[in-house]
Parts: sequence; structure tokens; C-alpha cells
Amino acid sequence: MKTQRGWLKSDRWGEWAKIETDQVKKIDPPPLELPCPTGAKQIELVPPDEIKIGNMPFIETVRRRKSRRKYTREPLSLEELSLLLWSTQGFQEMVKNGLAARRTVPSGGCRHPFETYLLINRVDGIEPGLYRYLPLEHRLCHLEPLDAIHARLNDESYGKFLDNSAVVFVWSVIPYRTEWRYSIISDKIIALDAGHVCQSLYLACEALGLGTCAYDGYDQDTVDRLLNLDGEDEFTIYLATVGRVAQP
Ligand SMILES: Cc1cc2nc3c(=O)[nH]c(=O)nc-3n(C[C@H](O)[C@H](O)[C@H](O)COP(=O)(O)O)c2cc1C
Repeated sequence: MKTQRGWLKSDRWGEWAKIETDQVKKIDPPPLELPCPTGAKQIELVPPDEIKIGNMPFIETVRRRKSRRKYTREPLSLEELSLLLWSTQGFQEMVKNGLAARRTVPSGGCRHPFETYLLINRVDGIEPGLYRYLPLEHRLCHLEPLDAIHARLNDESYGKFLDNSAVVFVWSVIPYRTEWRYSIISDKIIALDAGHVCQSLYLACEALGLGTCAYDGYDQDTVDRLLNLDGEDEFTIYLATVGRVAQP
């Protein structure tokens, strides 16, 4: 069995310290979030300080957490979706002279290398389709209607995730955001970061009586094409289905 377990180790900090990273070279860091394409429709989410739901005691939330793979066909509300997005990637404050943004989850060096794409199937008041979360504005950016995706992909292998779910969260990574600072040691940091994001989704879902399940068993090429990603500078790293459960 040939493995690649070496990259899980933290034994390259000495080597990293000698590298002239792009940060050391004083090259500008990449943008904190991808922009919404010009002319694309944007949807305002419920601001975090106006959200009234999600008040389950922390200890109960943790006790109940589990992977839930079967959902009813009932839609999510916009308020529920807003809380899920804010819990997983929500903006808190600008730091490091505006070069980084603290979020509701931790990230090595505050680099936050992820973008959140949503395949929305059943959310009250939102047309089914592909969206991207804009954490700095706390808005959704509409990218493509669902039927256009079907036509473009001509491949329904992702349908098994979608049919059953109200929403599928798909996180992409833009590795350079982390590599700008961490160069050769970025892979481990990015993988650790991704776990925090999905754990927040689990806890937020549980607190709302919703269900979620993490998936890394997806087809990389299909999901990258679904999201229109180049597969090199940005690619899918993790996804999670979300829906209402019959008996929370
Ligand atoms: C990194 C990761 C990848 C996972 N990938 C899948 C997957 O592809 N398919 C699936 O059905 N469950 C997946 N799961 C869910 C696990 O199977 C689940 O967490 C595990 O069975 C323990 O159950 P629990 O989450 O209810 O405690 C994944 C979980 C994690 C953390």
C-alpha cells in the first residue's frame, strides 16, 4: 500500500521559514472573496443580528449531532439558510490592515481559502439553481438556474445528492489564498480548515432541527464542472447535503 501520509505532518516549518513566500516578497494577497459576476442577481440574506432561531443549548446541540442523510421535501426558510451560511463562513471583522477578514470559523493565518457554492433545490422564495455566498456582503449571488446546469452537464450523476436535499453546500478551495503565506505547507492547513467549516454546518443544522451529512465521496471532475471551476486554481474540496428531517 502506497500512501501519502507525509503531508499530514507538521515537520516542514523550518523549511518554510527559509522560503521567500509571496507574502515575504510583498506581493499583494489575492482578494478575500470572488466577486459576483456583473449583472448577476443578488439576494439579501437575513442579517446575523436579526436571526431569531437557533437557540438550542450548546450541550444539547453537541449531544444530538449526527450525520443525517434522509430529508423530507419541506423547504428551508431564508432565515435558516442565512444562519447556516453565516455559521460556516460568516464575516466578523477586517484585520491585518484590511488584508484579512475574520470569520465565524478559524483558518490558518486567517487566509480563508474557501468559497461556498449552493445548489438550491428547496428554499422558500429562492429560485432553484446554483448560487455563491458573498460573506463580506452576507448575500447570495445567483450563478445559474438548475435546468441550465442539467443541459450543460448532460450528466445527472450529481442528482442523487440534489433530489433528496433542500440545499447542497459545496465548498471550493482557492489554494493560492493559503499558499501566498504558507507555500509548501499549505495542503495540511487547507484540509484542517475545511473540517472546521463543515463541523459548524453540522452544529448549526442540529440547532435548527435540520439534518446534514458531509461527503468526500463525490466525483471531482463532475462537481468541478457543475460549478464551472477550472480544477487547478479553484476546485471542489468538500460538500454536504442539507434538508429537514422527519424526526429531528
Ligand atoms: C471527511 C468526511 C467525509 C465523509 N464522507 C462521506 C461520504 O462520502 N458519504 C457518506 O455517506 N458519509 C460521509 N461522511 C459521514 C461519515 O460517514 C459519518 O460522519 C460517520 O459515519 C460517523 O457518523 P456520525 O457523523 O453520525 O457520527 C463523511 C464524514 C467526514 C467527516
